[in-house]
Formats: sequence, C-alpha cells, structure tokens
Amino acid sequence: MKKILVTGGLGFIGSHTVVELQNEGFEVVIIDDLSNTTINVLDNITSITGKKPIFYQMDTRKKEDLKTLFNSHDIDGIIHFAAYKAVGESMGKPLEYYENNLSSLIYLLQEMRDRNLDNFIFSSSCTVYGQADELPVTEKAPVKAAESVYGNTKQIGEEIIRDASNAHKINCIALRYFNPIGAHPSIKIGELPLGVPQNLIPFITQTAAGIRKELSVFGDDYPTPDGTAVRDYIHVVDLAKAHIAALKRLMEKRNKTTFEYFNIGTGKGSSVLEVINAFEKVNNLKLNYKIVGRREGDVVAAYADTTIANKELNWKTEISLEEALASAWKWQLKQG
Ligand code: WQD
Repeated sequence: MKKILVTGGLGFIGSHTVVELQNEGFEVVIIDDLSNTTINVLDNITSITGKKPIFYQMDTRKKEDLKTLFNSHDIDGIIHFAAYKAVGESMGKPLEYYENNLSSLIYLLQEMRDRNLDNFIFSSSCTVYGQADELPVTEKAPVKAAESVYGNTKQIGEEIIRDASNAHKINCIALRYFNPIGAHPSIKIGELPLGVPQNLIPFITQTAAGIRKELSVFGDDYPTPDGTAVRDYIHVVDLAKAHIAALKRLMEKRNKTTFEYFNIGTGKGSSVLEVINAFEKVNNLKLNYKIVGRREGDVVAAYADTTIANKELNWKTEISLEEALASAWKWQLKQG
C-alpha cells in the first residue's frame, strides 16, 4: 500500500484530501502543528473512512523531527499543505510567514533530495496571478508581483520547487487553488476558522447563525455586472479529488516534465452578491449584510480556465455552488 505524507493534514483542505486518499487505498501519515485546527479532526476523518491515519503533532520547521519521521516511514509521495495562510495577517507578520512557509518547504525538499524521493504536490494559489489581464485565467497568465506576503510565499515557493525539481529530478506538481468552500457531505469535517473569519463563506455562515451581527460586502463599485468582486468558488471535496488526480499523474509518470502547475477551480465566476443570493435561496433564509468600502489588496475578478487541469489530470468539478453553500450552512449549524 503506497504511503503518502500529508503536512497540514488536519486543516480544512488537508483533512478532506486525507479522506479522499484513504478512499483511494493510500496509507496516510499526517503531520500537523495544530496551530490552525484541532486534534478532533483526526477522529472525524477516522469516523468517515473507518481508517485512522498515522499522526504526528509536529512543526515542519523542526528539521530533526522531519528526519526522524522520514527514517520511520517509506514515503511514496508528499502533499504539502502546512503553511500560514491569512492574507491580511501576513502583511503584519512577514518574517513569520517567510520563515514558516518557506523553511518548511525547503526542509521537505531537502529530505526528498537526500532520500531520492519522488512525487511532491504543493498547495499553491490563484493569488500568484494577482489581477489577471484576461479572464478566465489560464496557466499561461503571467505571475505578477504579489499583493500580499502570503501570496509572495506561494510565488517564491513555486520557484523553489521548480529549481529543486530541475536540479534533483523530483517530480512535482503545484495546484493553484481558487476559492475553496463548503464541507464534506458527512458534515463531520469542514472549515474551522479560528477567530473572526477573513474569508467570505465562513463569515456568511457565522452571520446567518447569529455569531456575527452582519456581513460587510467589501465594495460594490467594481467594474463587474453587479459591482461586487468576482471569484471562483470550488467545493473542497472537488479540490481534494484534484490532489488524487495529480498524485496519480505523478506516480504514473505520464508527464515527462518534472514541474507542472494547474489551475484548480470550477471555471465559473460568482460575485459576492450572487453568492449571498444563492446562499439565501438554497438555505431559505435572509442574510444581514451591508455594502462598505473595498478591502485593500482585493482583485476585481478571478476565475479559472480549467481546460488544462481537466485534460491533463482527467479531473473536473462535480459539485455546484448551491450544493457547496448548502454544505457550508449544514456544517455551521453543526458547530452549535
Ligand atoms: C472573497 C470575496 C472579498 C469577506 C483569499 C486568498 C486565497 C485563498 C482564499 C488561502 C472578495 C469578499 C470577503 C467579507 C467580503 N486563501 N468578502 N466580505 O480574498 O478571494 O482569497 O482567500 O488559501 O489565496 O487570496 O477570498 O473569501 O477573503 O474573499 O465582501 O467579510 O469576498 O472582498 O471579493 P479571496 P475571500
């Protein structure tokens, strides 16, 4: 049974990917420092699949701990999620973000180099494109100067991987996520934002649940059909399945190149007001919101051209925005 190391495997996207890996018959080793999740996600994963992943509470910046782990397990592939990911927070803590996000990546790649390991998947982001000149965004769109430290760690991360993969023949894929949302159909795992949610969907669900007084819509004066910003909201299970598809591609070594990147989205753009209306309709409720000024650093619109991912990964999204918003609400209600 092939064994896959998943860093940040108890996080939002990581936990959903672990479930899909187990469903596909992979053995999973999770390392997570629990800085942005809780240990009960491990039991929730187990209750979904009936298989308990191997788990180490570990900081991926601890080189020696990483060495011990690689000495204890024959790893057939790595999916690297562990990173700080709050765009706004990153502007006030640049050194923590560069240190955590980049040193973890470098140490993992060093272990792969030294042990001649293969099959590395990197959690990247559409944020590397900034405001693309053409929409939908293709992989040929230029990577622009990052608008946040967080975005810069993803850009630099991809460059580190490209150079390491070329020099040491490590077979790598970066998946550039658009906006992950929703919860597993079992409603046993989902998004667990700590503190005040930065992202739109958890703020919407917490407002609907009465935890937040009202949602602030950041700007309605954008050059879009209804004036609010447009994004590509992809259900987290569709996103998780893209990682399985990427892993299979790497393992079958169909691709001759050693570093590839793919846009992982639905290919459909939805504005903030369209999301609000869809959320109200599918969940049969009224949301309390107000229009305020734009949020600094936001792009007008970002949605994916998924042609290459669909073809090369033999993968496409299957879950609609409405279903995703319904699952997000069911998950919120379960939080009590
Ligand atoms: C979506 C839209 C906001 C909150 C970021 C990162 C990306 C990924 C996902 C980590 C925007 C609007 C939001 C609110 C609002 N991060 N909004 N009121 O900024 O597209 O992407 O998070 O993996 O890398 O860049 O996502 O959910 O913050 O915002 O009006 O209270 O919702 O202005 O138009 P974003 P988001």
